Amino acid sequence: MNETATLWWNAENTSIHYIEQTLLPNEYTIIKCRSIERLATAIKRLEIRGAPALGVAGAYGVALSAVLADKKEIQSFMAAVQRDAGILRSTRPTAINLTWGIDRVLASMTPAHDCNEACSRAIAKAEEIAREDTACCHAIGTHGAALLPDTCTVLTHCNAGALACSSWGTALGVIRSAVSAGKKVKVISCETRPLLQGARLTAWELARDGIDVTTITDSTAAHLMRKGMIDAVVVGADRITRDAVFNKIGTYMHAVCAHHHKIPFYVAAPRSTFDENNSERDVIIEERGREEVTIMGSRTYVPDEAYVKNYAFDATPMELVTAIITETEVLRPPIDIHKLLSHYNTT
Ligand code: MRU
Repeated sequence: MNETATLWWNAENTSIHYIEQTLLPNEYTIIKCRSIERLATAIKRLEIRGAPALGVAGAYGVALSAVLADKKEIQSFMAAVQRDAGILRSTRPTAINLTWGIDRVLASMTPAHDCNEACSRAIAKAEEIAREDTACCHAIGTHGAALLPDTCTVLTHCNAGALACSSWGTALGVIRSAVSAGKKVKVISCETRPLLQGARLTAWELARDGIDVTTITDSTAAHLMRKGMIDAVVVGADRITRDAVFNKIGTYMHAVCAHHHKIPFYVAAPRSTFDENNSERDVIIEERGREEVTIMGSRTYVPDEAYVKNYAFDATPMELVTAIITETEVLRPPIDIHKLLSHYNTT
């Protein structure tokens, strides 16, 4: 199995390196990023994407800001880092991991006596967050693999794979771990309109690992469920509140269909994706530009006069979730996220 990282800190050049995901599967390009504005653009354009990867990007972003900031005096240094943190925080509103990664690195810097110490602390914490993310994905994988039958077909939506994390993946981590354990897993990957993360990224990742993957249009999913061709649905999450799971637009329709056909609907996500302070109504669902829907290649498919709605995510009510697979345990209904989070004390 491939264990290459999606984004990492290059200590030599004090810069962030990442796989440019908008170019996949046609081009595999590594970008070397040494500016906050460039990083913010990369996040907005989905060059770096997926909730856990955004957490790591936010963490490395604060570290990069600390490297670049003027180090004459601690207060103005911290003010500059806070400003950059604000720029990064505002890039995407739904995935809670972004803010979580940023805040953890900021918190690690405050006991420092001088700018250089604060900077070293920021880099060390960001690297720790990236390592932790990989470990979480493996633990999620192990817990989730045990839930899958020895031979099965799993439907997934969007990309909750290595590319969406620091490596391995959450939903695809479950599949990778099951395959590593000797299970025969076939994957149905929904293409995920409009940006095709399923078709471009999930299919690319799994094919590279020699895992059997079939791409379908999003609207084919219900048909396959009705035909008895899907044994389980496994998806990732961008945010989990006490009452709902936020994930890529289209996830909710898979959950409704899975419920109707009595197919287990699993969500695989680390602790960094849980939001105990909010409920569904408090969360902002990102809306993106009309061109993502209207233009394919060089052609426009929607008349200029037509309105377009381009929500990036939807919310699946908790009652449609069979279980949430975390790095520490598998939560089954009634799912109580407060109880889960009371076991954690992350700094
Ligand atoms: O808009 P994206 O590509 O960032 O959306 C990503 C998803 O919806 C993923 O399913 C989610 O972040 C989980 S990734 C482990």
